[in-house]
Amino acid sequence: MTYERAKQLLEEKGQTQLLRYYDELDEVGKNNLLAGIENIVWDFEKDLANPLDLSGKGRDIRPIDGLKIPAIEARKAEFESVGVKAIKENKVAAVLLAGGMGTRLGVDGPKGAYDIGITKPLYIFEQQMKNLAEVNEKCGVKVPMYVMTSDKNHEQTVAFWKEHGYFGYDEGEVKFFKQDMAPAVDYDGKIYLERKDTIALSPNGNGGWFASMQRAGLVDDLKKKGVEWLNIYAVDNVLQRIADPVFVGATIESGVNCGAKVVCKNNPYEKVGVLCMDGDKPDIIEYYELTDEMANQKDENGDYAYCFGAIMNYLFRLSRLEEIADAKIPVHIVEKKIERVCEDGVTRKPEKENGKKFETLVVDLIKLMGSALPFEVVREKEFAPIKNKTGVDSVESARELLKQNGVEL
Ligand code: UTP
Repeated sequence: MTYERAKQLLEEKGQTQLLRYYDELDEVGKNNLLAGIENIVWDFEKDLANPLDLSGKGRDIRPIDGLKIPAIEARKAEFESVGVKAIKENKVAAVLLAGGMGTRLGVDGPKGAYDIGITKPLYIFEQQMKNLAEVNEKCGVKVPMYVMTSDKNHEQTVAFWKEHGYFGYDEGEVKFFKQDMAPAVDYDGKIYLERKDTIALSPNGNGGWFASMQRAGLVDDLKKKGVEWLNIYAVDNVLQRIADPVFVGATIESGVNCGAKVVCKNNPYEKVGVLCMDGDKPDIIEYYELTDEMANQKDENGDYAYCFGAIMNYLFRLSRLEEIADAKIPVHIVEKKIERVCEDGVTRKPEKENGKKFETLVVDLIKLMGSALPFEVVREKEFAPIKNKTGVDSVESARELLKQNGVEL
C-alpha cells in the first residue's frame, strides 16, 4: 500500500493518528507501518457501533440438567469403557487454547511456559501434558494434539515445546496454529500504535479457534485421522484433565453435541460463567448476568439451581462444528491495558485499563452447538486456574492445590 492510499483510507476512517510518526521512520519502518495499515480488519467498527447487549434481556434462562458426581460415580465403569474405546480408535483430539496474552499474570511470553515449581522447574504446559500422558498410557495411543497460539507468542511457544521434547510427542505430532488478531483502540475508538511503525493488535479472543484451525488446514488433518470429538481446554488450569475417558464416554453416551466440565459454584456469586438453558438451547450466562433471585434459587434437592460453573474444558462434536462454521459469533468489547506509544513517543504498558479489545469467546459456541451436557468434577482435583500472581486464582492458590494432589513442587 502506498503512503497516499493509506492516508486517504485513514482519513475516511478517522484514524490518521496512525501516520503521526511516519515521516521520522526509516524505509523498513515505513513499509512495516503501511503493511500494518493494509492488513487492518475493519470489522471492529461495526462492533463498536453496535455493541453486544449483555443485559440478558429477552432471554429465557432456566436451569440445565447435568451429571453430578454421584450419578457419574454410579456409571463410571460404563462411561470409562466407552471413552477408552473412542480414544483408542483415535476419535478424540486435544486442542489447547494458548493464544491469550495473560496480562493479569503479567509475564512476558506464553503463559504455559510459566514455571510454577518451587524447588525444581514445573511448567504449566508440562504439568498439563503429564495428565494427558496418563490417558495416553492407559489407552495405548497418543491423543492427537493441537495448540493454538497467536502472533504474540507463536515462535516462543513452538520453541518451548521443541526444547522440552514436545512433552513426550514426536516433532510433527503436535500441530501449532495461529489465531487471528484484532486492533486495540482507545476509548474514542482510535486504533493505538504499539510502536511508531506498528499497529497495536491483540489476539481476537478464544472463540475463533475452529475457524483458525480450518484456515490452517487442520480440520482436514483431523478428518484424515478419523477424529470425531475435540477436547478444547485452557492453558490456565494446571489441574486440567485432558481427554478424560469418563468425561468422553459420558458425553458420547448422552448423545449431545457438546460436553462441558463444570464445578459446583462455591457460593452463589462466584465469578464463573454458569451453564444453563436459554429457551431450548444450552448457554453460558456470565456471573454478572445472574439476578440475585437466580443466583440463590434452589432446586428440589436444596442445591443451587444455577450451580454448574464452566471450567473451560469442553468436548465438541466435530460434525456439528462444521455445520455451524459460518455462524457469526458475538464480539465482546473488553477493557484492557494496552501497550502503546505515549505522547513523548516512548512505548509503555499502562498501569490501568486504557482502551478496548475485541474478542469472541468459546462460551458463545455452546448455544450454537445446540445441546450440552454439564459434567461435574471435583473442584479440588481438577480446577486450579492461574489468572493472577497472588490472591484468588493465582500462582499461590494453584500451588496449594497441586500440593493437595500430591504434585511435588
Ligand atoms: P483468558 O480469558 O484468561 O485470557 O483466557 P488471557 O489472555 O489468557 O489472560 P488475560 O485476560 O490477558 O489476563 C482463557 C484461555 O483462553 C485462551 C488463553 O490462552 C487461555 O487458555 N485465549 C484467550 C486464547 O487462546 N486466545 C485469546 O485471544 C484469548
